[in-house]
Amino acid sequence: MPDIIRLLPDNVSNQIAAGEVVQRPSSVVKELLENAIDANAKQIQLMVKEAGRNLIQVVDNGMGMSATDARMSFERHATSKIANTEDIFHIKTKGFRGEALASIAAVSQVELRTKKEEEEVGTQIIIEGGQLISQEVIHIPTGSSFQIKNLFYNVPARRKFLKSNSVEFRHVLDEFHRVALAHEDIQFQLYNNGEELLRLRSGNLLQRISDIFGRKIKNLLIPISEELEWVKLSGFVGKPESAKKTRGEQFLFVNHRFFKSTYFNKAVQDAFEGLIPQRYLPSFFLYIEIDIERIDVNIHPSKTEIKFEDESSIYALLRTAIKKSLGVYHVAPSLDFEQNQDWVFSIPKKDSPIEEPKIKINPAYNPFKENSKPFTKAEKLNVTEFYSSFRNDDITSDLFDAPSANNEENFLRLMNGRWMIEHKGQLWCIDPYRIHQTILYNKYIKSIKNHALSQQLLFPLERPVYDLEKEKLISIQSKLFAQGFDMQIEDDLLTITAIPSDILQEKVLDIIEELLYQLTEHSEEEFSVFFSKSVSKVSAKKRNEFIQSSQIRPIWEEFKNLEMPYLNPLNKKNYEIISIPNFE
Ligand SMILES: Nc1ncnc2c1ncn2[C@@H]1O[C@H](COP(=O)(O)OP(=O)(O)OP(=O)(O)O)[C@@H](O)[C@H]1O
Ligand SMILES: [Mg+2]
Repeated sequence: MPDIIRLLPDNVSNQIAAGEVVQRPSSVVKELLENAIDANAKQIQLMVKEAGRNLIQVVDNGMGMSATDARMSFERHATSKIANTEDIFHIKTKGFRGEALASIAAVSQVELRTKKEEEEVGTQIIIEGGQLISQEVIHIPTGSSFQIKNLFYNVPARRKFLKSNSVEFRHVLDEFHRVALAHEDIQFQLYNNGEELLRLRSGNLLQRISDIFGRKIKNLLIPISEELEWVKLSGFVGKPESAKKTRGEQFLFVNHRFFKSTYFNKAVQDAFEGLIPQRYLPSFFLYIEIDIERIDVNIHPSKTEIKFEDESSIYALLRTAIKKSLGVYHVAPSLDFEQNQDWVFSIPKKDSPIEEPKIKINPAYNPFKENSKPFTKAEKLNVTEFYSSFRNDDITSDLFDAPSANNEENFLRLMNGRWMIEHKGQLWCIDPYRIHQTILYNKYIKSIKNHALSQQLLFPLERPVYDLEKEKLISIQSKLFAQGFDMQIEDDLLTITAIPSDILQEKVLDIIEELLYQLTEHSEEEFSVFFSKSVSKVSAKKRNEFIQSSQIRPIWEEFKNLEMPYLNPLNKKNYEIISIPNFE
Protein backbone atom coordinates (compact mmCIF):
# COMPACT_ATOMS: atom_id res chain seq x y z
CA MET A 1 0.00 0.00 0.00
CA PRO A 2 1.41 3.41 -0.94
CA ASP A 3 1.84 6.25 1.54
CA ILE A 4 -1.25 8.44 1.65
CA ILE A 5 -0.41 11.67 3.48
CA ARG A 6 0.39 14.67 1.26
CA LEU A 7 1.24 18.29 1.98
CA LEU A 8 -1.60 20.57 0.94
CA PRO A 9 -0.62 23.12 -1.68
CA ASP A 10 -0.58 26.70 -0.34
CA ASN A 11 -3.66 27.73 -2.30
CA VAL A 12 -5.65 25.00 -0.51
CA SER A 13 -4.22 25.46 2.99
CA ASN A 14 -4.85 29.19 2.73
CA GLN A 15 -8.55 28.54 2.28
CA ILE A 16 -8.87 26.58 5.48
CA ALA A 17 -10.24 28.35 8.55
CA ALA A 18 -7.09 28.58 10.66
CA GLY A 19 -6.80 29.18 14.37
CA GLU A 20 -5.34 27.88 17.54
CA VAL A 21 -6.00 24.14 17.66
CA VAL A 22 -4.73 23.33 21.15
CA GLN A 23 -6.18 25.41 23.92
CA ARG A 24 -6.42 22.90 26.72
CA PRO A 25 -6.22 19.11 27.23
CA SER A 26 -9.75 18.61 25.92
CA SER A 27 -8.73 20.05 22.52
CA VAL A 28 -6.11 17.30 22.23
CA VAL A 29 -8.66 14.68 23.24
CA LYS A 30 -11.08 15.87 20.57
CA GLU A 31 -8.46 15.84 17.79
CA LEU A 32 -7.07 12.41 18.69
CA LEU A 33 -10.51 10.80 19.01
CA GLU A 34 -11.56 12.28 15.69
CA ASN A 35 -8.41 11.00 14.00
CA ALA A 36 -9.13 7.51 15.34
CA ILE A 37 -12.64 7.67 13.91
CA ASP A 38 -11.37 8.87 10.55
CA ALA A 39 -9.02 5.86 10.60
CA ASN A 40 -12.12 3.60 10.77
CA ALA A 41 -11.39 2.30 14.24
CA LYS A 42 -14.02 0.09 15.87
CA GLN A 43 -12.47 0.23 19.33
CA ILE A 44 -11.05 3.35 20.89
CA GLN A 45 -9.53 3.82 24.34
CA LEU A 46 -8.91 7.17 25.95
CA MET A 47 -6.68 7.42 29.00
CA VAL A 48 -5.96 10.63 30.85
CA LYS A 49 -3.85 11.40 33.89
CA GLU A 50 -4.20 14.57 35.91
CA ALA A 51 -7.05 15.69 33.65
CA GLY A 52 -4.79 15.39 30.61
CA ARG A 53 -2.07 17.65 31.99
CA ASN A 54 0.42 14.78 32.38
CA LEU A 55 -0.90 12.27 29.89
CA ILE A 56 -3.50 11.89 27.17
CA GLN A 57 -3.39 8.59 25.35
CA VAL A 58 -5.67 7.41 22.57
CA VAL A 59 -5.36 3.85 21.32
CA ASP A 60 -7.32 2.71 18.27
CA ASN A 61 -7.60 -0.40 16.12
CA GLY A 62 -7.96 1.63 12.93
CA MET A 63 -5.99 1.50 9.71
CA GLY A 64 -2.64 2.65 11.16
CA MET A 65 0.10 4.42 9.23
CA SER A 66 3.16 3.48 7.21
CA ALA A 67 6.55 4.61 8.54
CA THR A 68 6.67 7.53 6.10
CA ASP A 69 3.10 8.61 6.87
CA ALA A 70 3.76 8.39 10.60
CA ARG A 71 6.60 10.85 10.18
CA MET A 72 4.64 13.02 7.74
CA SER A 73 1.56 13.22 9.95
CA PHE A 74 3.28 15.76 12.22
CA GLU A 75 3.96 18.21 9.41
CA ARG A 76 1.73 21.27 9.15
CA HIS A 77 -0.90 20.98 6.38
CA ALA A 78 -0.12 17.29 5.92
CA THR A 79 -3.28 15.26 5.46
CA SER A 80 -4.60 12.18 3.71
CA LYS A 81 -8.16 13.51 3.86
CA ILE A 82 -8.31 16.20 1.21
CA ALA A 83 -6.13 17.07 -1.77
CA ASN A 84 -7.55 20.11 -3.57
CA THR A 85 -9.81 23.14 -3.22
CA GLU A 86 -12.84 21.26 -4.51
CA ASP A 87 -12.50 18.70 -1.67
CA ILE A 88 -13.04 21.41 0.96
CA PHE A 89 -16.67 21.48 -0.12
CA HIS A 90 -17.17 17.71 0.16
CA ILE A 91 -15.77 16.92 3.57
CA LYS A 92 -16.81 13.51 4.85
CA THR A 93 -14.08 13.06 7.46
CA LYS A 94 -13.78 14.74 10.84
CA GLY A 95 -10.38 16.21 9.99
CA PHE A 96 -9.25 17.92 6.82
CA ARG A 97 -6.85 20.72 7.80
CA GLY A 98 -3.76 18.61 8.44
CA GLU A 99 -3.02 20.80 11.40
CA ALA A 100 -3.95 18.96 14.57
CA LEU A 101 -0.93 16.70 15.08
CA ALA A 102 1.56 19.44 14.13
CA SER A 103 -0.05 21.79 16.66
CA ILE A 104 -0.15 19.14 19.40
CA ALA A 105 3.45 18.04 18.79
CA ALA A 106 4.68 21.63 19.02
CA VAL A 107 3.56 21.98 22.64
CA SER A 108 4.09 18.51 24.14
CA GLN A 109 6.13 15.31 24.18
CA VAL A 110 4.54 12.81 21.80
CA GLU A 111 5.02 9.09 21.38
CA LEU A 112 3.29 7.52 18.38
CA ARG A 113 3.15 3.80 17.79
CA THR A 114 1.38 2.67 14.67
CA LYS A 115 1.10 -0.28 12.28
CA LYS A 116 -0.90 -0.98 9.17
CA GLU A 117 -2.63 -4.31 8.75
CA GLU A 118 -0.72 -5.34 5.65
CA GLU A 119 2.67 -4.59 7.19
CA GLU A 120 4.69 -6.91 9.42
CA VAL A 121 6.20 -4.30 11.65
CA GLY A 122 5.14 -0.96 12.98
CA THR A 123 6.79 2.38 13.72
CA GLN A 124 7.50 4.23 16.93
CA ILE A 125 8.19 7.92 16.75
CA ILE A 126 9.11 10.25 19.60
CA ILE A 127 8.77 13.99 19.08
CA GLU A 128 9.35 16.73 21.63
CA GLY A 129 8.32 20.33 21.06
CA GLY A 130 7.93 19.55 17.35
CA GLN A 131 11.49 18.08 17.06
CA LEU A 132 11.98 14.45 16.04
CA ILE A 133 13.84 12.61 18.82
CA SER A 134 13.75 9.04 17.52
CA GLN A 135 12.10 6.73 15.00
CA GLU A 136 12.24 2.96 15.46
CA VAL A 137 10.74 -0.22 14.15
CA ILE A 138 8.55 -2.07 16.69
CA HIS A 139 6.20 -5.05 16.92
CA ILE A 140 2.66 -4.03 17.76
CA PRO A 141 -0.86 -4.98 16.66
CA THR A 142 -2.61 -3.06 13.85
CA GLY A 143 -3.78 0.42 14.78
CA SER A 144 -2.33 3.52 16.39
CA SER A 145 -1.49 4.73 19.86
CA PHE A 146 -0.77 8.39 20.53
CA GLN A 147 0.65 9.39 23.90
CA ILE A 148 0.72 13.10 24.59
CA LYS A 149 2.78 13.86 27.69
CA ASN A 150 3.24 17.08 29.66
CA LEU A 151 1.09 19.34 27.56
CA PHE A 152 2.48 22.90 27.31
CA TYR A 153 5.73 21.78 29.05
CA ASN A 154 7.56 24.28 26.83
CA VAL A 155 4.96 27.08 27.15
CA PRO A 156 4.83 27.64 30.93
CA ALA A 157 2.43 30.58 30.59
CA ARG A 158 -0.12 28.31 28.89
CA ARG A 159 0.37 25.55 31.43
CA LYS A 160 -0.23 27.99 34.25
CA PHE A 161 -3.37 29.20 32.53
CA LEU A 162 -4.97 25.75 32.81
CA LYS A 163 -7.79 25.45 35.32
CA SER A 164 -8.12 23.01 38.19
CA ASN A 165 -8.11 19.31 37.35
CA SER A 166 -11.83 19.05 37.94
CA VAL A 167 -12.59 21.82 35.45
CA GLU A 168 -10.19 20.49 32.83
CA PHE A 169 -11.52 16.99 33.28
CA ARG A 170 -15.05 18.26 32.77
CA HIS A 171 -13.99 19.62 29.37
CA VAL A 172 -12.34 16.30 28.52
CA LEU A 173 -15.49 14.47 29.46
CA ASP A 174 -17.60 16.83 27.34
CA GLU A 175 -15.49 16.09 24.25
CA PHE A 176 -15.55 12.37 24.97
CA HIS A 177 -19.37 12.44 25.24
CA ARG A 178 -19.72 14.38 22.00
CA VAL A 179 -17.65 11.89 20.03
CA ALA A 180 -19.14 8.82 21.70
CA LEU A 181 -22.70 10.03 21.11
CA ALA A 182 -21.96 10.55 17.42
CA HIS A 183 -20.66 6.99 16.95
CA GLU A 184 -22.74 4.49 18.83
CA ASP A 185 -21.36 1.70 16.63
CA ILE A 186 -17.83 2.17 18.02
CA GLN A 187 -16.69 0.76 21.37
CA PHE A 188 -15.14 3.29 23.72
CA GLN A 189 -13.35 3.08 27.04
CA LEU A 190 -12.37 5.96 29.23
CA TYR A 191 -9.75 5.75 31.98
CA ASN A 192 -8.98 8.50 34.44
CA ASN A 193 -5.78 8.17 36.50
CA GLY A 194 -5.68 4.45 35.76
CA GLU A 195 -9.27 3.79 36.75
CA GLU A 196 -11.89 2.74 34.20
CA LEU A 197 -14.68 5.33 34.24
CA LEU A 198 -16.76 4.35 31.25
CA ARG A 199 -17.02 1.32 29.01
CA LEU A 200 -19.35 1.86 26.09
CA ARG A 201 -20.38 -1.19 24.06
CA SER A 202 -21.36 -0.73 20.44
CA GLY A 203 -25.12 -0.70 20.04
CA ASN A 204 -27.99 1.59 19.26
CA LEU A 205 -28.29 5.24 20.17
CA LEU A 206 -30.65 4.77 23.09
CA GLN A 207 -28.24 2.26 24.61
CA ARG A 208 -25.34 4.66 24.11
CA ILE A 209 -27.20 7.53 25.78
CA SER A 210 -28.16 5.40 28.74
CA ASP A 211 -24.65 3.91 29.04
CA ILE A 212 -23.34 7.45 29.38
CA PHE A 213 -26.03 9.22 31.38
CA GLY A 214 -27.50 6.35 33.38
CA ARG A 215 -30.36 3.96 32.77
CA LYS A 216 -33.00 6.24 34.25
CA ILE A 217 -32.70 8.65 31.35
CA LYS A 218 -34.39 6.15 29.03
CA ASN A 219 -37.79 6.78 30.61
CA LEU A 220 -37.42 10.49 30.11
CA LEU A 221 -36.79 10.47 26.36
CA ILE A 222 -39.16 10.90 23.46
CA PRO A 223 -38.03 9.68 20.04
CA ILE A 224 -37.85 12.08 17.11
CA SER A 225 -37.86 10.88 13.55
CA GLU A 226 -38.61 12.67 10.31
CA GLU A 227 -37.33 11.89 6.87
CA LEU A 228 -37.59 14.14 3.86
CA GLU A 229 -36.08 13.90 0.42
CA TRP A 230 -33.11 16.09 1.31
CA VAL A 231 -32.67 15.74 5.04
CA LYS A 232 -33.19 13.20 7.79
CA LEU A 233 -33.72 14.02 11.44
CA SER A 234 -33.60 11.49 14.26
CA GLY A 235 -32.78 11.25 17.94
CA PHE A 236 -34.50 12.08 21.20
CA VAL A 237 -35.73 14.99 23.24
CA GLY A 238 -36.23 14.96 27.00
CA LYS A 239 -39.80 15.01 28.30
CA PRO A 240 -40.87 18.47 29.48
CA GLU A 241 -40.69 17.44 33.15
CA SER A 242 -36.97 16.69 32.78
CA ALA A 243 -36.16 20.27 31.64
CA LYS A 244 -33.71 22.10 33.87
CA LYS A 245 -32.73 25.65 34.58
CA THR A 246 -29.10 24.92 33.86
CA ARG A 247 -28.08 23.68 30.46
CA GLY A 248 -27.79 19.93 30.70
CA GLU A 249 -27.63 17.45 27.90
CA GLN A 250 -28.03 19.40 24.68
CA PHE A 251 -26.45 17.77 21.66
CA LEU A 252 -26.78 18.56 17.98
CA PHE A 253 -25.03 16.50 15.34
CA VAL A 254 -24.84 16.79 11.60
CA ASN A 255 -23.53 13.82 9.64
CA HIS A 256 -22.11 12.38 12.90
CA ARG A 257 -20.29 15.59 13.77
CA PHE A 258 -21.16 17.46 16.97
CA PHE A 259 -21.88 21.14 16.36
CA LYS A 260 -23.14 24.17 18.21
CA SER A 261 -25.95 26.41 17.05
CA THR A 262 -27.89 28.90 19.13
CA TYR A 263 -30.30 29.23 16.18
CA PHE A 264 -31.24 25.54 16.17
CA ASN A 265 -31.28 25.43 19.98
CA LYS A 266 -33.95 28.07 19.73
CA ALA A 267 -35.97 25.88 17.34
CA VAL A 268 -36.01 23.16 19.99
CA GLN A 269 -36.84 25.63 22.72
CA ASP A 270 -39.69 26.97 20.58
CA ALA A 271 -41.13 23.50 20.14
CA PHE A 272 -41.40 23.24 23.92
CA GLU A 273 -43.12 26.59 24.26
CA GLY A 274 -45.91 26.44 26.77
CA LEU A 275 -44.80 23.02 28.04
CA ILE A 276 -41.88 24.07 30.19
CA PRO A 277 -41.49 27.12 32.41
CA GLN A 278 -39.71 30.09 30.95
CA ARG A 279 -35.92 29.84 31.10
CA TYR A 280 -36.00 26.08 31.61
CA LEU A 281 -33.98 24.17 29.06
CA PRO A 282 -35.02 20.86 27.54
CA SER A 283 -32.43 18.16 26.93
CA PHE A 284 -31.99 16.83 23.43
CA PHE A 285 -29.89 14.48 21.32
CA LEU A 286 -30.66 15.37 17.72
CA TYR A 287 -29.03 14.00 14.61
CA ILE A 288 -29.30 15.62 11.20
CA GLU A 289 -28.21 13.74 8.13
CA ILE A 290 -27.88 15.85 5.06
CA ASP A 291 -26.08 15.89 1.74
CA ILE A 292 -22.52 17.13 2.40
CA GLU A 293 -22.95 19.68 -0.39
CA ARG A 294 -25.58 21.50 1.66
CA ILE A 295 -23.28 22.28 4.58
CA ASP A 296 -19.93 23.99 5.07
CA VAL A 297 -17.72 22.83 7.95
CA ASN A 298 -14.83 25.06 7.01
CA ILE A 299 -16.02 28.23 8.67
CA HIS A 300 -14.34 28.00 12.06
CA PRO A 301 -11.08 26.37 13.17
CA SER A 302 -12.84 24.38 15.86
CA LYS A 303 -15.03 22.68 13.21
CA THR A 304 -17.98 22.93 15.62
CA GLU A 305 -19.72 25.68 13.69
CA ILE A 306 -21.50 24.61 10.56
CA LYS A 307 -23.09 26.70 7.87
CA PHE A 308 -26.29 25.22 6.45
CA GLU A 309 -27.59 26.16 3.04
CA ASP A 310 -31.25 25.91 4.12
CA GLU A 311 -30.97 27.02 7.71
CA SER A 312 -34.54 28.21 8.07
CA SER A 313 -36.01 24.99 6.63
CA ILE A 314 -34.01 22.97 9.14
CA TYR A 315 -35.21 25.26 11.90
CA ALA A 316 -38.78 24.55 10.83
CA LEU A 317 -38.08 20.83 10.54
CA LEU A 318 -36.67 20.66 14.06
CA ARG A 319 -39.48 22.67 15.56
CA THR A 320 -42.28 20.81 13.86
CA ALA A 321 -40.85 17.31 14.21
CA ILE A 322 -40.38 17.85 17.93
CA LYS A 323 -43.83 19.38 18.35
CA LYS A 324 -45.27 16.39 16.54
CA SER A 325 -43.50 13.87 18.77
CA LEU A 326 -44.51 15.76 21.90
CA GLY A 327 -48.07 15.50 20.58
CA VAL A 328 -47.88 11.85 19.62
CA TYR A 329 -46.46 10.94 23.02
CA HIS A 330 -49.26 12.85 24.69
CA VAL A 331 -47.27 15.56 26.36
CA ALA A 332 -48.86 18.28 24.20
CA PRO A 333 -52.18 18.46 22.36
CA SER A 334 -51.44 16.80 19.04
CA LEU A 335 -54.34 18.60 17.34
CA ASP A 336 -52.25 21.73 17.42
CA PHE A 337 -49.74 20.15 15.22
CA GLU A 338 -52.24 18.74 12.74
CA GLN A 339 -53.80 22.12 12.17
CA ASN A 340 -50.86 24.49 12.25
CA GLN A 341 -48.45 23.23 9.69
CA ASP A 342 -46.66 26.52 9.69
CA TRP A 343 -43.73 25.46 7.61
CA VAL A 344 -42.92 23.92 4.27
CA PHE A 345 -41.16 20.57 4.29
CA SER A 346 -40.10 20.37 0.69
CA ILE A 347 -38.25 23.11 -1.05
CA PRO A 348 -40.30 23.89 -4.18
CA LYS A 349 -38.75 23.07 -7.53
CA LYS A 350 -37.55 26.08 -9.52
CA ASP A 351 -40.31 26.36 -12.14
CA SER A 352 -43.22 24.86 -10.24
CA PRO A 353 -46.31 27.10 -9.92
CA ILE A 354 -46.67 28.79 -6.53
CA GLU A 355 -49.93 27.95 -4.80
CA GLU A 356 -51.89 30.56 -2.95
CA PRO A 357 -51.72 29.96 0.80
CA LYS A 358 -54.94 28.53 2.25
CA ILE A 359 -56.08 30.31 5.39
CA LYS A 360 -58.95 29.02 7.50
CA ILE A 361 -61.30 31.72 8.75
CA ASN A 362 -64.49 31.62 10.72
CA PRO A 363 -66.94 33.78 8.70
CA ALA A 364 -69.43 33.78 11.57
CA TYR A 365 -67.09 35.50 14.01
CA ASN A 366 -68.05 39.04 14.97
CA PRO A 367 -65.94 40.61 17.69
CA PHE A 368 -68.71 43.09 18.59
CA LYS A 369 -71.37 40.44 19.24
CA GLU A 370 -71.99 39.61 22.88
CA ASN A 371 -71.75 35.83 22.50
CA SER A 372 -68.43 35.92 20.68
CA LYS A 373 -66.56 37.69 23.46
CA PRO A 374 -63.15 36.14 24.04
CA PHE A 375 -63.48 35.51 27.81
CA THR A 376 -65.69 32.96 29.47
CA LYS A 377 -67.09 33.72 32.90
CA ALA A 378 -64.39 31.73 34.68
CA GLU A 379 -61.68 33.37 32.65
CA LYS A 380 -63.08 36.79 33.42
CA LEU A 381 -62.86 35.99 37.09
CA ASN A 382 -59.20 35.04 36.71
CA VAL A 383 -58.38 38.21 34.86
CA THR A 384 -60.05 40.32 37.53
CA GLU A 385 -58.16 38.49 40.27
CA PHE A 386 -54.95 38.91 38.37
CA TYR A 387 -55.28 42.65 38.10
CA SER A 388 -56.54 43.09 41.63
CA SER A 389 -53.25 41.68 42.87
CA PHE A 390 -51.57 44.85 41.63
CA ARG A 391 -53.90 47.15 43.50
CA ASN A 392 -51.75 47.62 46.52
CA ASP A 393 -52.01 51.40 46.30
CA ASP A 394 -54.42 53.69 44.68
CA ILE A 395 -52.90 53.24 41.31
CA THR A 396 -55.68 54.35 39.02
CA SER A 397 -55.17 57.99 39.75
CA ASP A 398 -51.58 57.68 38.72
CA LEU A 399 -51.93 55.77 35.46
CA PHE A 400 -52.23 58.97 33.47
CA ASP A 401 -50.16 61.89 34.56
CA ALA A 402 -52.11 65.07 34.32
CA PRO A 403 -50.90 66.66 31.12
CA SER A 404 -48.26 69.08 32.18
CA ALA A 405 -48.15 72.62 31.01
CA ASN A 406 -44.39 72.79 31.40
CA ASN A 407 -41.93 70.51 29.61
CA GLU A 408 -42.28 67.62 32.04
CA GLU A 409 -42.54 64.19 30.51
CA ASN A 410 -45.82 62.25 30.63
CA PHE A 411 -45.86 58.62 31.68
CA LEU A 412 -48.49 56.02 30.84
CA ARG A 413 -48.43 52.44 32.08
CA LEU A 414 -49.51 49.84 29.50
CA MET A 415 -51.36 46.66 30.41
CA ASN A 416 -48.29 44.53 29.63
CA GLY A 417 -46.18 46.36 32.21
CA ARG A 418 -44.31 48.49 29.70
CA TRP A 419 -44.49 52.28 29.91
CA MET A 420 -45.03 54.97 27.28
CA ILE A 421 -43.16 58.22 27.77
CA GLU A 422 -43.36 61.35 25.70
CA HIS A 423 -39.79 62.49 25.33
CA LYS A 424 -38.33 65.01 22.89
CA GLY A 425 -41.30 64.89 20.55
CA GLN A 426 -41.35 61.08 20.35
CA LEU A 427 -43.11 58.29 22.15
CA TRP A 428 -40.76 55.93 23.93
CA CYS A 429 -42.13 52.53 24.80
CA ILE A 430 -39.81 51.27 27.54
CA ASP A 431 -39.47 48.04 29.45
CA PRO A 432 -38.78 49.06 33.06
CA TYR A 433 -37.51 45.62 34.12
CA ARG A 434 -34.91 45.52 31.38
CA ILE A 435 -33.95 49.12 31.95
CA HIS A 436 -33.44 48.49 35.63
CA GLN A 437 -31.30 45.46 34.74
CA THR A 438 -29.18 47.62 32.45
CA ILE A 439 -28.67 50.26 35.13
CA LEU A 440 -27.69 47.66 37.72
CA TYR A 441 -25.43 45.85 35.25
CA ASN A 442 -23.51 49.05 34.56
CA LYS A 443 -23.16 49.65 38.24
CA TYR A 444 -21.89 46.14 39.03
CA ILE A 445 -19.47 45.83 36.16
CA LYS A 446 -17.82 49.11 37.20
CA SER A 447 -17.45 48.16 40.84
CA ILE A 448 -16.34 44.58 40.33
CA LYS A 449 -12.61 45.17 40.68
CA ASN A 450 -13.01 46.46 44.21
CA HIS A 451 -13.37 44.21 47.18
CA ALA A 452 -17.03 44.32 48.06
CA LEU A 453 -18.40 44.82 51.54
CA SER A 454 -19.82 41.68 53.02
CA GLN A 455 -22.56 40.93 55.56
CA GLN A 456 -22.48 37.80 57.73
CA LEU A 457 -25.71 35.82 57.68
CA LEU A 458 -27.27 34.90 60.98
CA PHE A 459 -28.76 31.80 59.43
CA PRO A 460 -26.58 30.46 56.59
CA LEU A 461 -28.30 29.72 53.29
CA GLU A 462 -28.13 26.17 51.98
CA ARG A 463 -28.66 24.56 48.62
CA PRO A 464 -27.98 21.02 47.43
CA VAL A 465 -25.47 20.84 44.57
CA TYR A 466 -24.66 18.01 42.20
CA ASP A 467 -21.19 17.21 40.88
CA LEU A 468 -21.10 19.43 37.81
CA GLU A 469 -22.48 22.37 39.75
CA LYS A 470 -19.90 21.82 42.45
CA GLU A 471 -17.08 22.01 39.92
CA LYS A 472 -18.49 25.16 38.41
CA LEU A 473 -18.87 26.85 41.78
CA ILE A 474 -15.40 25.83 42.92
CA SER A 475 -13.94 27.31 39.75
CA ILE A 476 -15.29 30.77 40.67
CA GLN A 477 -15.32 30.47 44.47
CA SER A 478 -12.37 32.80 45.09
CA LYS A 479 -13.79 35.42 42.72
CA LEU A 480 -17.14 35.24 44.46
CA PHE A 481 -15.34 35.67 47.77
CA ALA A 482 -13.82 38.93 46.54
CA GLN A 483 -17.36 40.08 45.76
CA GLY A 484 -18.52 39.38 49.30
CA PHE A 485 -19.82 35.81 49.08
CA ASP A 486 -18.43 33.37 51.62
CA MET A 487 -19.41 29.81 50.81
CA GLN A 488 -18.40 26.27 51.63
CA ILE A 489 -19.09 23.21 49.54
CA GLU A 490 -19.10 19.95 51.38
CA ASP A 491 -20.46 16.65 50.13
CA ASP A 492 -23.48 17.68 48.14
CA LEU A 493 -24.31 20.82 50.03
CA LEU A 494 -23.52 24.47 49.36
CA THR A 495 -23.57 26.65 52.47
CA ILE A 496 -23.43 30.42 52.15
CA THR A 497 -22.39 32.26 55.31
CA ALA A 498 -21.83 35.79 54.04
CA ILE A 499 -23.16 37.81 51.12
CA PRO A 500 -22.41 41.20 49.56
CA SER A 501 -23.97 43.94 51.64
CA ASP A 502 -25.87 45.46 48.70
CA ILE A 503 -27.63 42.24 47.74
CA LEU A 504 -30.88 41.11 49.30
CA GLN A 505 -30.67 37.80 51.11
CA GLU A 506 -33.81 36.43 49.46
CA LYS A 507 -32.25 36.93 46.01
CA VAL A 508 -29.04 35.05 46.76
CA LEU A 509 -30.10 31.52 45.82
CA ASP A 510 -31.57 32.79 42.56
CA ILE A 511 -28.29 34.55 41.85
CA ILE A 512 -26.39 31.29 42.41
CA GLU A 513 -28.79 29.52 40.06
CA GLU A 514 -28.30 32.23 37.44
CA LEU A 515 -24.50 32.10 37.86
CA LEU A 516 -24.54 28.37 37.23
CA TYR A 517 -26.61 28.94 34.12
CA GLN A 518 -24.34 31.75 32.89
CA LEU A 519 -21.29 29.52 33.45
CA THR A 520 -22.58 27.18 30.77
CA GLU A 521 -22.47 30.09 28.31
CA HIS A 522 -19.31 31.84 29.50
CA SER A 523 -15.86 30.71 30.60
CA GLU A 524 -14.61 31.43 34.10
CA GLU A 525 -12.38 34.18 32.69
CA GLU A 526 -15.41 36.28 31.86
CA PHE A 527 -16.37 36.39 35.51
CA SER A 528 -17.02 40.12 35.75
CA VAL A 529 -19.42 39.98 32.80
CA PHE A 530 -21.50 37.03 33.85
CA PHE A 531 -21.44 37.96 37.53
CA SER A 532 -22.83 41.40 36.71
CA LYS A 533 -25.35 39.87 34.33
CA SER A 534 -26.56 37.42 36.96
CA VAL A 535 -26.83 39.87 39.81
CA SER A 536 -28.54 42.55 37.74
CA LYS A 537 -30.97 40.08 36.24
CA VAL A 538 -32.06 38.69 39.58
CA SER A 539 -32.00 41.98 41.50
CA ALA A 540 -33.81 44.13 38.96
CA LYS A 541 -37.39 45.04 39.90
CA LYS A 542 -40.00 43.14 37.94
CA ARG A 543 -42.55 44.83 35.66
CA ASN A 544 -45.36 44.47 38.17
CA GLU A 545 -43.30 46.38 40.72
CA PHE A 546 -43.50 49.52 38.60
CA ILE A 547 -47.05 50.67 39.11
CA GLN A 548 -46.84 54.39 39.68
CA SER A 549 -45.07 56.97 37.57
CA SER A 550 -43.17 58.08 40.68
CA GLN A 551 -41.51 54.64 40.59
CA ILE A 552 -40.62 54.82 36.94
CA ARG A 553 -39.35 58.40 36.90
CA PRO A 554 -36.05 57.83 38.81
CA ILE A 555 -34.97 54.85 36.70
CA TRP A 556 -35.95 56.71 33.53
CA GLU A 557 -33.74 59.62 34.60
CA GLU A 558 -30.82 57.31 35.34
CA PHE A 559 -31.40 55.45 32.13
CA LYS A 560 -31.15 58.59 30.04
CA ASN A 561 -27.54 58.98 31.21
CA LEU A 562 -26.42 55.52 30.08
CA GLU A 563 -23.86 55.32 27.32
CA MET A 564 -25.33 52.35 25.49
CA PRO A 565 -28.96 52.22 26.44
CA TYR A 566 -30.53 50.28 23.57
CA LEU A 567 -29.93 46.70 24.70
CA ASN A 568 -30.01 45.18 28.16
CA PRO A 569 -27.15 42.92 29.34
CA LEU A 570 -28.94 39.92 27.88
CA ASN A 571 -29.16 41.61 24.49
CA LYS A 572 -32.86 42.33 24.61
CA LYS A 573 -34.30 45.66 23.52
CA ASN A 574 -34.87 48.19 26.28
CA TYR A 575 -37.16 50.43 24.28
CA GLU A 576 -38.83 51.16 20.95
CA ILE A 577 -39.44 54.66 19.64
CA ILE A 578 -42.68 55.57 17.95
CA SER A 579 -43.02 58.95 16.25
CA ILE A 580 -46.09 60.94 17.27
CA PRO A 581 -48.50 61.11 14.33
CA ASN A 582 -48.97 64.50 12.76
CA PHE A 583 -52.69 65.28 12.38
CA GLU A 584 -52.43 68.26 10.11
N1 LIG B 1 -5.19 7.48 14.55
C1 LIG B 1 -4.76 7.59 13.28
N2 LIG B 1 -4.76 6.50 12.48
C2 LIG B 1 -4.34 6.59 11.19
N3 LIG B 1 -3.91 7.73 10.62
C3 LIG B 1 -3.88 8.84 11.36
C4 LIG B 1 -4.32 8.83 12.73
N4 LIG B 1 -4.17 10.08 13.21
C5 LIG B 1 -3.70 10.83 12.21
N5 LIG B 1 -3.52 10.10 11.10
C6 LIG B 1 -3.01 10.61 9.81
O1 LIG B 1 -2.29 11.78 10.05
C7 LIG B 1 -2.77 12.84 9.26
C8 LIG B 1 -2.63 14.14 10.00
O2 LIG B 1 -3.51 14.16 11.13
P1 LIG B 1 -4.04 15.57 11.65
O3 LIG B 1 -5.02 15.32 12.72
O4 LIG B 1 -2.86 16.42 11.92
O5 LIG B 1 -4.76 16.19 10.37
P2 LIG B 1 -6.19 15.85 9.74
O6 LIG B 1 -6.92 14.89 10.58
O7 LIG B 1 -5.94 15.43 8.33
O8 LIG B 1 -6.86 17.29 9.76
P3 LIG B 1 -7.26 18.17 11.07
O9 LIG B 1 -6.12 19.08 11.35
O10 LIG B 1 -8.48 18.88 10.63
O11 LIG B 1 -7.48 17.20 12.17
C9 LIG B 1 -4.21 12.47 8.93
O12 LIG B 1 -4.66 13.07 7.72
C10 LIG B 1 -4.12 10.95 8.84
O13 LIG B 1 -3.72 10.55 7.56
MG1 LIG C 1 -7.20 15.28 12.62
